[in-house]
Amino acid sequence: MVCLGNICRSPLAEGILKSKVDANKFYIDSAGTGGWHIGELPDGRSISVARTHGIDLTDQRCRKFSILDFDDFDIIYVMDKSNYRDVISLARLEKDKKKVRLILDELNALESNEVPDPYYGGDMGFENVFQMLNKTCDIIASKLN
Ligand code: 4NP
Repeated sequence: MVCLGNICRSPLAEGILKSKVDANKFYIDSAGTGGWHIGELPDGRSISVARTHGIDLTDQRCRKFSILDFDDFDIIYVMDKSNYRDVISLARLEKDKKKVRLILDELNALESNEVPDPYYGGDMGFENVFQMLNKTCDIIASKLN
């Protein structure tokens, strides 16, 4: 799960998908294309919205996306088109590029296939992001499980 800062959207995506799949079978992690918050906890608003839905994000620490993630992961879900471009720009081979997907493409949403960045908005933005990711992670989990 990849977003820009790895403190708002991708930690939520990580926590939500982890809550829906068997941890013994699937390794799920998140990262940011930017490195401003490395080592930090997720944003307090992501922690709080996840908590209201019974998901704990406080074991997560921000890290930056690495080229080695192309080797370690089978699927790389990105939150928006800008993340897509940033991750694709690091791909070494066609094989790497094929792993990268917009997470909302799983949902076939009519309105948009981007998870909006809630960083500069209010709490409702985080609930909105939670709902979008929850729906798309239901579909991802049903394919994985
Ligand atoms: P995220 O949101 O990509 O959903 O984690 C952001 C968090 C921090 C920043 C940008 C986006 N930032 O510029 O620090």
